[in-house]
Formats: sequence, structure tokens, C-alpha cells
Amino acid sequence: MSRKLYILVIYLVTVSLRLGSVSSQLSVDFYQQTCPNVDSIVTKAFTSIAQQDNVVPSSLLRLFAHDCFVEFYIQGCDGSILISSTANNTAERDAADNINFPPNPFDAMAKVKKTVEAACPGVVSCADILAMGARDVVVFAGGPSWNVFKGRRDGRISEASRTAGLIPGANFNVDQLVANFALSNLTVSDMIVLSGAHTVGFSHCQQFTNRLYKFSSNVTTDPSMSRDYAAILEKQCPQFGGDPGTVQAFDITTPFTFDNDYYQDLQQGKGLLFSDQVLFNDLRTRDLVNQLAANQTFFFSAFTQAMIKFGMVGVKTGSVGEIRRDCAVVN
Ligand code: HEM
Ligand SMILES: *[C@@H]1O[C@H](CO)[C@@H](O)[C@H](O)[C@H]1NC(C)=O
Ligand SMILES: *[C@@H]1O[C@H](CO)[C@@H](O)[C@H](O)[C@H]1NC(C)=O
Ligand SMILES: *[C@@H]1O[C@H](CO)[C@@H](O)[C@H](O)[C@H]1NC(C)=O
Ligand SMILES: *[C@@H]1O[C@H](CO)[C@@H](O)[C@H](O)[C@H]1NC(C)=O
Repeated sequence: MSRKLYILVIYLVTVSLRLGSVSSQLSVDFYQQTCPNVDSIVTKAFTSIAQQDNVVPSSLLRLFAHDCFVEFYIQGCDGSILISSTANNTAERDAADNINFPPNPFDAMAKVKKTVEAACPGVVSCADILAMGARDVVVFAGGPSWNVFKGRRDGRISEASRTAGLIPGANFNVDQLVANFALSNLTVSDMIVLSGAHTVGFSHCQQFTNRLYKFSSNVTTDPSMSRDYAAILEKQCPQFGGDPGTVQAFDITTPFTFDNDYYQDLQQGKGLLFSDQVLFNDLRTRDLVNQLAANQTFFFSAFTQAMIKFGMVGVKTGSVGEIRRDCAVVN
């Protein structure tokens, strides 16, 4: 064997061993035999939807997160959030923590699933399409791309009651956030990096008005919030009589662009949720926030790795679960 070839072989073995240990049972080329062009089919479909509907990118990214959060050894990234309620069952989608989802990302999933079924009937799971979609909308918004590990099977259980305590709350402090992400085996750094998804999208006023009007018994406005920013939010979200449908951008300057502004906003006291701002306020997490704010390349590479890890939480593989025909209905 020539020296160059020898080095190449060692390199390939090392790379595959490393990927093997992260991916466990998922793989980038899972559909190589059954649907070789699945990534490009999915990317093309989501990109075309995102071009027509600017609600889809951020809401689909959040949909992926909420699917993965609800695992507890039973449901992880298994597409269970896509299932509709029936006369007999209040599904995950209709849990209190999920009421603010618009129909847009669900409709987008249905459309893309249909396109995939037309090309490769009955082989690609809704859970994998959602994982690829989360990647595609990040890319659409100007963020990084990554290889999505595939092979997830769709769950057959979707119950609103099972979400209880699993989806992090807008008023969580660092201890609560860390504990919540630990349920999914995610680290403090993963939590800080994944929170950067809030560089795109919007939140309803109800999630943060306590920070403006009733922060604590003797303080009205959260002292860590910039005064200019508080004034803007107060105008958008009045204490009384506001429209409950009103939303406010997480990143006030570029809410449709995936960049590292989220972390720069935190440095300026312009984090929208308590759970956002606390990442800068708490000295245990500030260092990493500062690093992510200083270097977008670093954020992009960290986000890519964290999304791959997040996407493997509690996945079903092999013969567990099913390949759902209609993402909204159990087969
Ligand atoms: C760290 C803990 C987290 C908390 C406390 C949290 C909380 C929230 C809340 C309260 C909203 C606003 C919902 C509304 O009022 O409509 C929201 C939106 C959003 N979240 Fe999170 N989230 C967290 C982590 C994540 C993660 C890990 C992701 C994705 C990787 C994510 C992606 C999003 C996106 C993109 C939106 C905007 C949705 C839209 O524009 O429709 N979040 N989040
Ligand atoms: C709902 O429950 C009834 C009675 O237990 C059953 O006959 C029916 O098939 C169930 N429907 C669905 C959609 O599961
Ligand atoms: C509010 O009350 C807490 C304890 O009740 C006290 O530590 C804090 O200093 C007070 N803040 C202000 C601004 O008065
Ligand atoms: C930014 O982060 C990237 C990726 O981690 C690194 O290679 C680069 O050296 C960093 N740039 C600076 C200016 O620190
Ligand atoms: C988290 O890690 C523990 C220990 O390795 C494992 O038993 C558990 O299944 C993991 N949980 C998830 C959701 O991956």
C-alpha cells in the first residue's frame, strides 16, 4: 500500500468511527437505496414554501425543537407533534405549551411529505422530513447547512399530557434551563447554543409582559432590560387591552435572518424572554454568550453540532414506530 493511500485509509476509518459514535443508528445516507435524492427533494420543497410564506422558517424550526423536547424515553424527534387530535385523544400539538403554533409549519410539512411520497412512496419518515426541514429553513434564513442524520421512525403516541414539564418556559432561570436540557442529555453549552435559534422569529406578548409590568413585588421592569428596548416593547404590548395575538421579534433588527445578533442583543439588554436575557446575566453562561456574540463562524459551527445532537434525542429506529403515510394521522 502506498503511503498516501495508507494515510487516506486511516483517515477514513477515523472519520467513520467518529461519526459512528455520534450517530448510533442514524446515518446521513440512510435512504441511499430507497430514496437517494431525498435531501434535495426536501430542500427544494421547503425553500419554495419559505419563499412564499415568511412565517414558515421560524415556526418550523420551533416545531422541530418542540418535537424533540418531548421525549422522556417515549417520544423524542419522532414527528409526534405533527399528529392531529381525534375524538379520543388530545394530541401533543394541542398541549398548552404548543397552542401558539400557527398552522403554517404543519401545512408545510403536509405539502413536503406529499412531494416526497410522490418520489419515494412509504419510505421516508415525517420525523426525518422535519429534521431536514429545520436545516433547510436555517439555510434559507442565511444560516449554516449541515448533513442531517436520518433513519428516524415516526412515533405512534402523541398525547398533550405527556408534554407536561418537558418544554422549557419563557421565565426559566439558568438552573431550570440546564435541568430541562439535561432531560435530553444536552449540556449547558448545547442549551446556550441552541437558544441562538431565537435569532429568528417572534413571541407573543404574554411570554414577556411580566418583565415589563410586574417583574417582582417591588420592581416593575426587569432591571437587566435596556430602557430603550423596554419602551419599544411597552408600546407593542400594553399592560391592559392589547391584542393577545400581537407578536414581537426576538431580534429586533433582523428577525428573518439567521445570524449571531441574538447574542449581541443579550449583551445590550435586548433579550426578549427572561430565559434569553438570563444567559448573559448569569455569570456561569455569560462567557460563552460573549464568544458567540464575537464570532458568527463559531456560532454557526457550534449550532450545527448542537442541532445534530438535539436531532438524535430519543429517536426511534429499526422496527420501532412506523413510516407514517400522512404526518397528521397514525397509520
Ligand atoms: C432554551 C429554552 C427555550 C425557551 C424557554 C423557548 C421559549 C420560546 C417561546 C416562549 C417562544 C415564543 C412562542 C410564541 O409566543 O409564539 C419561542 C419561539 C421560538 N423558539 Fe424557542 N425556546 C427555547 C428553545 C428553543 C430551541 C432549542 C429552538 C430551536 C432550536 C427554539 C426555536 C424557536 C423559534 C425559531 C421561535 C420563533 C417561532 C416563530 O417565530 O413562530 N427555541 N421559544
Ligand atoms: C375512539 O374510541 C372508540 C370507542 O372506544 C372506538 O370505537 C373508535 O375506533 C376510536 N376512534 C379512534 C379514531 O381511535
Ligand atoms: C426588592 O426587594 C428585594 C427583597 O424583597 C430587595 O432585595 C431588593 O433590593 C428590592 N429592590 C428594590 C429596587 O428596591
Ligand atoms: C471564529 O471561530 C472559528 C470557528 O471556531 C475559528 O476558526 C476562528 O479562528 C474564530 N475567529 C476568531 C477571530 O477568533
Ligand atoms: C441519556 O443518557 C442516558 C445514559 O447514557 C441514557 O440511559 C438515556 O437513554 C439517554 N436519554 C436520551 C433521551 O437519549
